[in-house]
Amino acid sequence: MKLFAKEAISSIKNIGAIAPSSKYLANNIIKHIDFGENQVVLEFGPGNGAITKHILKKLPASSRLISLEINTPFFNHCKDRFKEYDNFQIFNHSAIEFDSLLNELSIERIDYLVSSLPLSIIPDEELAIMFGKVPDYLINEGSFLQYQYSLNKYKYLKGIFDEVKLGFTPINLPPAFVYKCSVI
Ligand SMILES: C[S@@+](CC[C@H](N)C(=O)[O-])C[C@H]1O[C@@H](n2cnc3c(N)ncnc32)[C@H](O)[C@@H]1O
Repeated sequence: MKLFAKEAISSIKNIGAIAPSSKYLANNIIKHIDFGENQVVLEFGPGNGAITKHILKKLPASSRLISLEINTPFFNHCKDRFKEYDNFQIFNHSAIEFDSLLNELSIERIDYLVSSLPLSIIPDEELAIMFGKVPDYLINEGSFLQYQYSLNKYKYLKGIFDEVKLGFTPINLPPAFVYKCSVI
């Protein structure tokens, strides 16, 4: 929590939050994941690992979680915090160019993408680059799962994905909307 507060103040442009996600929000996101064998789950912006830890608890050993974190202190924190998980890898890499990293790892498709990126403060050109590639990577029935404190990207996401379902978690600081976006 101390690390989160420190980074939230010093990197306000990239973090876009005042506190880590609550366990209620984490569970409202990961309830959409049908945890199975040999899956690839990708995470954008793990921060201090508030959602990561819930994913790893449920992820079978044959499946892997790959997290991309642009903030170096958060990257180092998660690398150490989850070091006992052999099926977890974290990279100090921007989510916008996630495809270059997946190429290096020889990963062509993913089952789920869990994103905590602050969509409201990421420049439109960067969002266009990223969302131009995300649907191509999602295996059928897999989802892009994102939370936001406002609905300002609801229409935008509806223009990208075939289906966008909305949820809400009041017990979070601040309360948050959850988008479950699918390619049909
Ligand atoms: C709102 S915080 C969420 C942290 C954590 N997942 C949680 O829910 O408490 C957003 C996170 O996204 C990271 N981030 C922002 N832009 C990014 C980018 N382009 N690539 C990867 N991570 C990014 C920030 O450094 C921060 O850790």
